[in-house]
Amino acid sequence: MIAPARETRPGDEPILEVRSLNKQFRVGGMFAPGRLHAVRDVSFSLHAGTVMALVGESGSGKSTTARLIAKLIPPTSGTILLAGTPTRRATPDYRRRVQMVFQDPFSSLNPVHTIAHHLARPIIVHDRAGSAAEVTEQVWALLALVGLNPPDEIAAKHPHELSGGQRQRVAFARAVAVDPEVVLADEPVSMLDVSIRIDILNLMDRLRRERHLSYLYITHDLASARYIAQSIIVMYAGYAVEGGPTEALLAAPAHPYTRRLIAAVPNLTRAGPRDPSPARAEPPNLVNPAPGCPFAPRCPVVMARCRQIMPEITTLANGRWVRCHYAQETA
Ligand SMILES: Nc1ncnc2c1ncn2[C@@H]1O[C@H](COP(=O)(O)OP(=O)(O)OP(=O)(O)O)[C@@H](O)[C@H]1O
Ligand SMILES: [Mg+2]
Repeated sequence: MIAPARETRPGDEPILEVRSLNKQFRVGGMFAPGRLHAVRDVSFSLHAGTVMALVGESGSGKSTTARLIAKLIPPTSGTILLAGTPTRRATPDYRRRVQMVFQDPFSSLNPVHTIAHHLARPIIVHDRAGSAAEVTEQVWALLALVGLNPPDEIAAKHPHELSGGQRQRVAFARAVAVDPEVVLADEPVSMLDVSIRIDILNLMDRLRRERHLSYLYITHDLASARYIAQSIIVMYAGYAVEGGPTEALLAAPAHPYTRRLIAAVPNLTRAGPRDPSPARAEPPNLVNPAPGCPFAPRCPVVMARCRQIMPEITTLANGRWVRCHYAQETA
């Protein structure tokens, strides 16, 4: 049998905490060596049994942050704590407790293997069953858990025989197979039809409640973040620039970039493009970046000091925070 879900105690000490996480990639080769600053001084806490959305434009460092936390790549500096304990190496225990789900379930499932094989593997690798019959029993229970019925028929299929939504359900079944505490879901619904996205988001939320999971939910889509996440972190050019409870943050964003992001969401009640800002096309330079706030060249309220110093975190009311000189002054 699948282990029973842990007690839900949202609001406890964070299940996952990152402190001053940095990741630089060497780029440019021998003749123009440079360092690409993908993640810069990122700190946040994910509370047990909750969903935190990581939002921001393409290249802002969302996936790199998730890959660092999954320990698929080593950080340049910084600390990752799981349930209060700093973790340096990716031990088998850490790999079990922190799982990752990717955008494209097709590329993370092996076409030559059955669904049963994909789900049995983590159960066997992490020694979670006493016999072959028990492995099969757990595989079927997992498939039923994620709404793939009848489990015995689905188990015998290959990935190409399933729809995109069904494949993503398999990806979640595989992630929860070893009873993890944290699931890093990197754009898990962005390749799916709009009509199926909500089903997968609902599945994620049900697994959160029933299996007491905590999610880092990475997305471009503020609407889905609002639907599923209790809190949001906004990334820009590798920095986490604003964070806080979802509704409060979306209702009154403190950072000019967050305001830009919200303004860019298409509105069904209005025709035509929404964000006419002339500076929008200029992407931030991540290779050997200039000092100061990377949003300064695009910022409508830029001040002289923004071009010199990246602001520290300012704590606002009700669990909110922001990294912005202007917001700090007007707070
Ligand atoms: N292995 C690598 N080597 C060099 N640069 C990298 C590497 N991985 C990521 N980057 C760069 O780091 C930056 C952040 O990438 P990342 O994938 O984290 O962004 P993202 O926010 O997930 O974007 P998207 O929304 O497009 O998925 C990008 O400029 C990317 O090109
Ligand atoms: Mg990404």
